[in-house]
Amino acid sequence: MTSPQRILVIESSCDETAAAVIDENLEVLSSVVASQDELHQQFSGVVPEIASRAHVRHLLPVLSEALQRSQTKLEDLSAVAAMTQPGLVGSLLVGLTAAKTLAMVADIPLIAVNHIEAHLYACRMEAGRDIFPAIGLVVSGGHTNLYDCQSALSYELLGSTIDDAAGEAFDKVAALLGLGYPGGPYIQKVAETGDCKAFRFPRSFMHDDRLAFSFSGLKTAVRYTVLGQPGSQDPPPEMTPQRTADVAASFEEAVADVLIAKCQLALRKQNRSALCIGGGVAANQRFRTKLDELRRTGVDVHIAPMSLCTDNAAMGAIAWEHYREGRFADLDVDVVPGLVRAK
Ligand code: KG4
Ligand code: ZN
Repeated sequence: MTSPQRILVIESSCDETAAAVIDENLEVLSSVVASQDELHQQFSGVVPEIASRAHVRHLLPVLSEALQRSQTKLEDLSAVAAMTQPGLVGSLLVGLTAAKTLAMVADIPLIAVNHIEAHLYACRMEAGRDIFPAIGLVVSGGHTNLYDCQSALSYELLGSTIDDAAGEAFDKVAALLGLGYPGGPYIQKVAETGDCKAFRFPRSFMHDDRLAFSFSGLKTAVRYTVLGQPGSQDPPPEMTPQRTADVAASFEEAVADVLIAKCQLALRKQNRSALCIGGGVAANQRFRTKLDELRRTGVDVHIAPMSLCTDNAAMGAIAWEHYREGRFADLDVDVVPGLVRAK
C-alpha cells in the first residue's frame, strides 16, 4: 500500500513563521510555528520591517523541523504551498520565495493559498466533513470579515470592519491596561476575575441592518474609562486590579456581543444555517461560550480548534482543495498584500 501524498505549506503573512506537512487525508503530520511576539512586544503591534527580517532568520530552521518531524524528504512531496495573500508584503515574500525555490528544485507544483480562506478551512479540518455552504467569520489581528461561503474556495465578502479589526482592538486595549502583546490572551486572563457588566461599553452597529463592524468607539470608551475623560479636572481613576479586570471583562463582552449579533444577522440575511469562525480572536473563551449558546439555538456552529486559531501553516491544508482542482500557481506568481474583496 502506498502512503498518502503530502504537501508542505509555508505561512509567513504576518509575524509567525510557520511550516506544516499535511497528507491528502488532511492529517497534520507536523506543524511548526516560530513566533515573533517578543520582538514586537515593545511596540504593542507588528513592525513590518522587523517581521520580514525575522522571517528570513526563522524560515530555514522552521522548514527543516517541519520536514524532519514528519519524516518527509523533498522527493516525498506532491506540492509545496505558500500563503500569498493578504498580509505584509515583505513577510509574504519571504515564504513565497522559499516555496518557489522548493517547487523548482523538487520539480513539484506550487500552490498559492489565501490566508483568509485558510483561517476558515481550520473549521473544515476540525469538523472532518464538508461544512459548506456557511457564513464565515474571520476575526483576527488584521481582519474582521464576514463571508458567504459556497465552498472552501468560493465565497463572497459580505462586510468587514470600517476601522480596527477586533484583534487589533484587543491589542490596543491590552496596551492601555498595561498588559502584554498580543493582547487577546492577556485580556482573557485578566477578565476571568472581572465583572462583564461593570461598564456598559458601546456596541457599534449592533442594532442596525448593516453587515459592518466598528471597534474604534469601543476603544475610545475604554481609553476614557482608564485615563479619565479628556478635559476633566478630576484625577484619572485608580486602576486597581479589580477595576482593570472589570474593564477587560466588559470590553471582551462588548466585542463578543457584536460579533455574535452580526453572525446572526448574516445567517438571517443569507438564509444559511451553518457558521464557521476562524482567526486569533476565535480563541477567546468568552466568545466561544457565546458561540456555544448560539449552537443551542440550532445553528450549525464550527469554530477553528484552539491550535489552529492564531496563525499557523496547518490550516494551509486547504492547499489540498487546490491540488484536487488542479489549481496550481506559476513560478512568477506574486504576493497580494491587500484584502481580496470578493470572488
Ligand atoms: O489570526 P492571528 O494570529 O493573526 C492575524 O491573522 O491577524 O490573530 C492574532 C490576533 C491578535 O490581535 C490577538 O490579540 C488575538 O488574535 N487573539 C485573541 C486571543 N488570542 C489571540 N483575542 C482574544 N482572545 C484570545 N484568547
Ligand atoms: Zn491570520
